[in-house]
Order: sequence, then C-alpha cells, then structure tokens
Amino acid sequence: MTMSFNAPSLVLGYDLDKWNNYGGIKEPITIDISPSTNSHILLCGMSGAGKSYDEHQLVYRLALAEQKLGGEYLFADYKGDDTFSYLKDCPRFFPYKAAFAALDTVHARLIARQSGEDTSRYPITLIWDEYMAATLNLISEDKKAATTAMSKVSEILQLGRSLSVRLVSVCQRPDALAFPAGSRLNYGVIIVVGAAVRSIYEMLLPDHMEQVKGRQFGQGEGVVLLQGSELRFIKVPTVRNENRMKQACLKALSRPL
Ligand SMILES: Nc1ncnc2c1ncn2[C@@H]1O[C@H](COP(=O)(O)OP(=O)(O)OP(=O)(O)O)[C@@H](O)[C@H]1O
Ligand SMILES: [Mg+2]
Repeated sequence: MTMSFNAPSLVLGYDLDKWNNYGGIKEPITIDISPSTNSHILLCGMSGAGKSYDEHQLVYRLALAEQKLGGEYLFADYKGDDTFSYLKDCPRFFPYKAAFAALDTVHARLIARQSGEDTSRYPITLIWDEYMAATLNLISEDKKAATTAMSKVSEILQLGRSLSVRLVSVCQRPDALAFPAGSRLNYGVIIVVGAAVRSIYEMLLPDHMEQVKGRQFGQGEGVVLLQGSELRFIKVPTVRNENRMKQACLKALSRPL
C-alpha cells in the first residue's frame, strides 16, 4: 500500500506465498499507522488459530513503532488467557469484565479530544482480546449496557482516525450481533488467521471470495484485507525473543493511567 514519507508504519507479518515458495523469504506486509489512515484492526479466526499469539506481537510492534510519539495502550483480556497472565499487575491491563472499563476510558479520551478539551493527538490504542465473547455476555446480562458499549465502539471506529484513537478487536467469529450496522467493515485492517471458515470470509471479505477460494491456512497463516480493497496472504512469524517482547509489553502497559 502507498505510504506518505516517514509515516509511522507497522509490520503485520510476512507475505505467505513468498515465505512458502522461496524458503522463508521475509517480505513484510506493512501498514501506515499515521492518523491519515484507518488503522483500526479486526483479527479473527477459530480457537487455536493463533489470534492471541499474533495480537501479542501487534502490541509489541505498535509500542515500538509509536515509542517516540508517546503512544498509549490499554489491553483488555476478557478470557484471562495464559499468554497474558504476566501482565496482570499492570495498570493498563483490564481482565474479564473490566474490559468495559477500558472501553469507557478510551471512549472518554476520544470525546475529550473531539470536544476540543484535549488537544493532544498522540496515539491511544485499545487492544481487546475476545471482544465478541465479552459483548455477547453483556447482551445476555444487561442489554442496555451492551447497546451503550457497542455505540462507544462504533464511535471510536468512526471518529478515532483523525483523533488518533485506535481499536484492535480480536474475536473468533465477528457476528453481526456484536458488530451492529456493519461496523465490522469499519476496520481498515481485517485479518483472518487459521483454517478457512467460509462464513467468516463471507462476513469480512464479501468481495474477495474468489481470491480465497481453495486456499488452506495453518496456524499463524491467513488473509489480510487492507482498506477494504487490497487482499494479501500473511504469515505470522514465530517469536524469536519472547523475553524482549514481554519486557516491551510490560513497559507499555505499566505506564500509569
Ligand atoms: N504464528 C505462530 N507461530 C508459532 N506458534 C503459534 C503461532 N500462532 C499460534 N501458535 C501457538 O498456538 C497456540 C494457540 O494460539 P493462540 O492462543 O494464539 O490461539 P487463539 O486463536 O487465540 O485461540 P482462542 O480463540 O482459543 O483464544 C499458541 O499458544 C502458540 O503456542
Ligand atoms: Mg486467544
């Protein structure tokens, strides 16, 4: 994709076909993460497909890429995944139902910027693992609260770009129930990892069904749709230095709120 000069960028992974066909050639798939581009990310796939593994790397790479800009991160872990248990004491880590407190915080920041009360524009990102499960649970417990939460999500998706507020939503199947009014198509970056599930592709890549037809994806492999138009096949690499990644995530999520 085209990027303006010196625009901050994020490596999502590597080109899958180049990796497979040419013995592990690493051609990065990169996105522009400056406010001029929609960099809300939706990451989907069945259980065990490698979503949380990929998400972990995204937090790490985002924090590195936006270090000089003073990027801020909030991480909501609805399921309580073992992968993220080392973050449990961080003030920016929101387990289980506290995910909605993270949403409220980020939404309030968006509104403060929109109203002019806050003129800062450094990037603020909410990363939310198991968004769908959290929202479905809230719908069953308190429909009104769920409607309010979903409208906050929609507002972040619609206004976030120019105000530098970003959402990274991770879920298995992005059913319309938790993505009202077609909001799942408001994500500038849509990633589906793991074994092909036709219904997920139909929801997220309706105009690209021909391109994914017949393709098989293993764990950590899949499809990326950039800005609703450019389809790429992606390989999420195995992390070589897990300790370095964890230290960077700990640092990013330890910053006081
Ligand atoms: N790209 C990858 N390279 C190496 N190992 C991977 C990769 N992706 C996933 N794995 C391995 O598979 C395990 C399961 O992946 P992960 O927890 O990310 O799945 P998930 O899609 O989040 O599943 P769930 O929906 O159940 O949370 C990881 O703990 C990791 O060991
Ligand atoms: Mg997971």
